[in-house]
Amino acid sequence: MGNKTVQLRSRDWFGKNDRWGMAHRAWLRAEGFSSQVFEGKPVIGICNSWSELNNCNAHLRQVADAVKRGVWEAGGFPLEFPTISLGEMLMKPTTMLFRNLMAMDVEECIRAYPLDGVVLLCGCDKTTPAQLMGAASADIPALMVPGGPMLRGIWRGTEVGSGTDIRRFWEEVRAGRMTEEEWCEVESCVSRSAGHCTVMGTASTMASVAEALGMTLTGAALIPAVDARRYAQAEESGRRIVGIVNEDLRPSRIMTAEALENSIRALMAIGGSTNAIVHLVAIAGRLGLDLPLEKFDEISRTTPVIADVKPSGKYLMEDLFNAGGLPAVMKEIAPLLRSRALTATGKTRGENVARAGCFNRQVVRTLDQPLKPEGGLAILRGNLAPDGAVVKQSAASPQLLKHRGRAVVFENNEDLINRVDDPDLKVDESSVLVLKNAGPKGAPGMPEWGHLPIPAKLLKAGVKDMVRLSDARISGTSFGTLIVHVSPEAATGGLLAVVREGDEIELDVHARRLELCVPDAEIKQRQAAWRAPAPHYTRGYGKLFLDHILQSHEGCDFDFLRGKNGSDPLKRFRNPGL
Ligand code: FES
Repeated sequence: MGNKTVQLRSRDWFGKNDRWGMAHRAWLRAEGFSSQVFEGKPVIGICNSWSELNNCNAHLRQVADAVKRGVWEAGGFPLEFPTISLGEMLMKPTTMLFRNLMAMDVEECIRAYPLDGVVLLCGCDKTTPAQLMGAASADIPALMVPGGPMLRGIWRGTEVGSGTDIRRFWEEVRAGRMTEEEWCEVESCVSRSAGHCTVMGTASTMASVAEALGMTLTGAALIPAVDARRYAQAEESGRRIVGIVNEDLRPSRIMTAEALENSIRALMAIGGSTNAIVHLVAIAGRLGLDLPLEKFDEISRTTPVIADVKPSGKYLMEDLFNAGGLPAVMKEIAPLLRSRALTATGKTRGENVARAGCFNRQVVRTLDQPLKPEGGLAILRGNLAPDGAVVKQSAASPQLLKHRGRAVVFENNEDLINRVDDPDLKVDESSVLVLKNAGPKGAPGMPEWGHLPIPAKLLKAGVKDMVRLSDARISGTSFGTLIVHVSPEAATGGLLAVVREGDEIELDVHARRLELCVPDAEIKQRQAAWRAPAPHYTRGYGKLFLDHILQSHEGCDFDFLRGKNGSDPLKRFRNPGL
C-alpha cells in the first residue's frame, strides 16, 4: 500500500535512482528483501529494548514478531533495531544513571535511520520513559507497545507481589521470624515468567502512564506478558502504526499539556509510583512544556485512588487487568479527564474509554467509594525542600503523616549499611531516619535507596514503619512513610547536607510541609562550613552525567536535551551528493 498523502522520509534513502539510492537499497537487500519493499511502503522501525540482561524485557523479540505481522499486513515494511536496555535488577549502581543515555540512543537511532514511524517495545521501569523521551525529541510518528507484567508469584498458596512482598519477607528474615529455608523457597517462585513486576511499581505505572498519555492502543498497558492477547495486541499495534504514519500523527500532537494532565490523573487514581513524577517532568521538558510539581499536587488533591493494587492496596496487576485494566480506571475517572485529547488510536481519550467496562468492583473502585480519598502522591515544601519533595501518602502510615522527630543521620548509603543494624544506634520509633548524598549527583544517579531499612532492633520490637527522608528515589513497589526526591539534593549544598544527628524535623503531609527545626543563624553557619563531596567521575559518560544532570524537580534530564529541536535537524545530510 503506497502512501498517498504523507511525504515519507524513507524515500530520501530508498526512492532515488542515483548512486546512493541504489546503494541504500542494495545493502538492505543483503538481508534478503525483494525490491518490492522499496515501492513506497512506509518503513516502520521496531525499537526493541530486548535483552537477556533484562528479564523483564526478555520476551520482546516475540512481541516484535507479532508487531511485524501487523506492519506487513497493513502495507508497511518493518525493521527491528536494538537499543541499550535498562534492567532494574542487574544494572548497577542504578538504571536511572542510564535513562538519559537510552533516551539519546532511541532519539538518535530514530532520526539517523530511514524510518517513517516507530513502534517502541518497553517493559522494565526506565525503558518506558527513555523511549517516550527519545520519541518525543525525534518526533516522528510513534506507538508504544508495553511488554506487560509477569505471572504472579505464589508461595505456599500465598500470592507474592514482586518487590513489595519481598521487602516484607526480608524484614521478617531480619527480625528472625522467617527461616532461611523459607526465604530460599520464595526465591524460586516470585518471578515466574518474563514481564515486568506484578505490583503497581514503576514499570506498571509507566505503562499505564503511556496509555493515559495516548501513546498506546487502548488497554495495552496491563495485558500479562505471556498472555496470547499481548501478542494479538502487538499485531494490532503493527497495523495501527501504518495508519499513524499516514495520518502524520506525531508524538507532539499526542503528548500535549492536556494529555499530560490525563496521565497525571491516571497516575493518582492507580496509586502509581513516585518515579513517574520525575519521568513525566522529563518527557514534558522534551516537548517544550512546563510541568511544575504543583500540578501533580493539585491533581492529587482532586483525584481519589480507585485501583486497589499493591503497594497502596491489596491486588496484583493481573487482577487489575481482569477487572478491565486501565480503561476501567479511565472510564471511572472520565469526569475528571480532558476527554478531547487526541490519542494514537486516532480517537480522543473520551472515545477510547466510552465503552470500557469494569468487571470487578473490589479491584477498581468507584469515585464515590474510593480506596483513598486523595491521590497517592503529595508534594512537600519547606526549608528542607525549597524545590520540593515527594511522599507516596497512599502507601504511608496514616499516623505518621503528621510527625515531629529527632534525626538519625546517615551521610551516604555506605554509612547506612554499616550502621543501621548497630545495636548501639541511638534510635527509637519516633526518630526520623535521614539519608544524604543519594540524589542525582550525590549517589550518583539517584538510586532507589529511599526505602531506608528499619533498624533491626526496632523491627524485632515490632516497629513496622518510621518516617524516612532522603534525596534518593524509591521503587514503585516500596511502602512506608518515605519522603524522597528532596530537592535540591545534599551533594549540591541543599539544606539536607547540613542536617545533624538530633535535629528536629517536622513533617505535615496534609499541610504539605517539611521543615528542619533549627534556627536560621545556625543553619547559615553550617552552610558556610559545608564542602561539596568529590565528584564520582572525572571521565566518560559518568562525567557527562555529572556535568549536565538536572535536579529531580526538573526531571533529571540533561540540560542540553530539554526543548524541541524540530523533527529532522539533519535532513540536509541525507543526500550526500555524487
Ligand atoms: Fe523490571 Fe521490576 S525489575 S519491572
